[in-house]
Amino acid sequence: MTVGNDPVKVMKQEVGKAAAALVQSGMIVGLGTGSTTAYAIEYLGNRLKSGEIKDIKGIPTSFQAEVLAKQYGIPLTTLDAVDHIDIAIDGADEVDPQKNLIKGGGAAHTREKVVDALAEQFIVVVDANKLVDKLGSTFLLPVEAIPMAIAPVMRAIEKLGGKPQLRMGVKKAGPVITDQGNMVIDVKFDSIENPAELEKTLNNIPGVLENGLFVGVANKVLIGEVKDGQPVVREM
Ligand code: A5P
Repeated sequence: MTVGNDPVKVMKQEVGKAAAALVQSGMIVGLGTGSTTAYAIEYLGNRLKSGEIKDIKGIPTSFQAEVLAKQYGIPLTTLDAVDHIDIAIDGADEVDPQKNLIKGGGAAHTREKVVDALAEQFIVVVDANKLVDKLGSTFLLPVEAIPMAIAPVMRAIEKLGGKPQLRMGVKKAGPVITDQGNMVIDVKFDSIENPAELEKTLNNIPGVLENGLFVGVANKVLIGEVKDGQPVVREM
């Protein structure tokens, strides 16, 4: 297979397929959000349909994941109905060498963190463009906050040295509203020296529900990349 004129799409497809191949019959599977995970959900559906695996159940991390799971015939369950998650497959916006992540480009990081952190195996699927030496170098850090607290939360973030901006909708006037009915503040930090500490500090601001730092949660990072014109998947 060659990468054609859309190498990023091919990298995402291949890494999504590699992650879907790790799922075995009978597993409870956390279904992540975003364009890369969408391919994993599609391939998982194909494996079920062909009879290669059976009896899996998905736990969606967003409305998008739920819609895709239904489209590809993956039966769904909820956290009330199961006592564990075997594996979660999810994308990321940045990955550092310690496998810490920034997530939330799709405003789904709150539910993603619940599901991904519960999974016995959390598999991250990214294309090579997501790899960074230090978190925050290419992507703003998403912070979900309840609507009535947006102004004080933004002021508190400024005091921590961040530059906050309210995420606005595309093809929708006004702010992005999350699946939980909240808003997202995207924050530029000049340098995130200690992601574990910042994750806790941000979540401690009254009105903040969750931020997009995922520290020490990922078990495996699968990276789709192009080598000599061919798509390959490697593990970090
Ligand atoms: C959703 O809120 C995010 O955490 C996504 O998982 C992340 O933005 C990766 O998305 P892509 O695979 O579309 O880049």
